[in-house]
Amino acid sequence: MQNFDYQTPTRLIFGKGVIEKLPEVMAQFGKKILLTYGGGSIKKIGLYQQVHELLKDFEIIELSGIQPNPKYDPSVLDGVRLCKEHKIDVILSVGGGSVLDCSKAIAAGACYDGDTWDLISYKVKAQAALPIVDIITLAATGSEYDCGGVISRTETNDKIGYMDRHLFPHTSFLDPTYTFTVSKKQTAAGIADAMNHTIEQYFAEDTTLLNDGFCESMLRSLMVNGRKCLDNPEDYTARAEMMLACSYGCNGILALGNSYSGWPCHGIEHALSAYYDITHGEGLAIITPRWMRHILNEHTLPRFVKYGINVFGIDASLEPMEIANKAIDATYAFFESIHIPMHLREVGIDDSRLDEMAHHIAVNEGLDQAYAPLTEADIKAILVDSL
Ligand code: NZQ
Ligand code: ZN
Repeated sequence: MQNFDYQTPTRLIFGKGVIEKLPEVMAQFGKKILLTYGGGSIKKIGLYQQVHELLKDFEIIELSGIQPNPKYDPSVLDGVRLCKEHKIDVILSVGGGSVLDCSKAIAAGACYDGDTWDLISYKVKAQAALPIVDIITLAATGSEYDCGGVISRTETNDKIGYMDRHLFPHTSFLDPTYTFTVSKKQTAAGIADAMNHTIEQYFAEDTTLLNDGFCESMLRSLMVNGRKCLDNPEDYTARAEMMLACSYGCNGILALGNSYSGWPCHGIEHALSAYYDITHGEGLAIITPRWMRHILNEHTLPRFVKYGINVFGIDASLEPMEIANKAIDATYAFFESIHIPMHLREVGIDDSRLDEMAHHIAVNEGLDQAYAPLTEADIKAILVDSL
């Protein structure tokens, strides 16, 4: 087991109706709030109105229109400008992972005198950030329980995972009823995203019985409950378990003591959504089984065997290579069964920029250091298989 130094300071307030505690939580930071949200889903579900009602004694400045795969320009830049102009005390993010990620970058930029991109691109280390409170309305990224935000810069095709310990939300409100209205497409993408977060940490060196069991249970829970959410979007118990599972996905708790895996599918997917603005979870579902097939060899075989037996219940008496191949087939079949498009062409990506993307990934994502190291040629082969 590797040494580690771990802390998650975020307070999670979970369950039906917990939003009642919002005024009390916000009051500890001051009166001036930057309320951030996306394209309008929070108005449709009545949450926007509820937040204003609860916070009528506060001064609220708004930043709306934050898009999926949130953009540096205009959203992050506008948010930083508003925070500085209005001397904002705290950011309240209401929406999915994109709104929260954008809010995290704004929180850091608001406390920095230079260009916010210096921070996101790791040229300069943040010394402080505004406090962030969030109400998460989509179960997927785990951004509500981690210190990362993923920001896209369109003109350079960059999509950067910006992590800094100042970016942990102070408090995250998780009410599963807010996720009842999430579309089937976004629910399925959320399942795939959280499953891949788990897979990225399961396929590593130095894993433990403890972490493996946690990951295997995460995967089984996400498949069982995810399917229930799709069949009955208002199944509270299933939405609640899926929401909690998603929160565990990215904050490191699944991999304490493991060697770093390199998160290869995310490295590849971030380029896909940077170049083509596709839905993150769909890109991951397409890449994951192709990446698995590509890295399957004598060294990685025991991991695949364990995954196949404990996650999919594959017969342990079969030959190891057969178990591994069945496990990869089962991964693909599950994503297909929840109606995720399983080819890049189906999400608008053809072969015209594969070389460029493979090069971009090889240069920027450090996948030569991953659990199963990937060269530029390996990345290209995975992309070609995914077409
Ligand atoms: O914009 P609005 O109108 O709010 O609609 C959103 C958006 O169109 C909608 N939505 C959200 N809550 C809803 C709802 N629709 C109906 N009812 C609700 N309750 O769903 C659409 C997608 O929202 P988005 O926030 O983009 O989805 P998600 O939460 O999956 O976030 C994806 C982003 O997170 C990044 C991804 O790369 C992507 O940019 N990631 C962030 C991570 C992190 N911070 O740790 C880790 C992940 O690996 C991931 O990379
Ligand atoms: Zn992800």
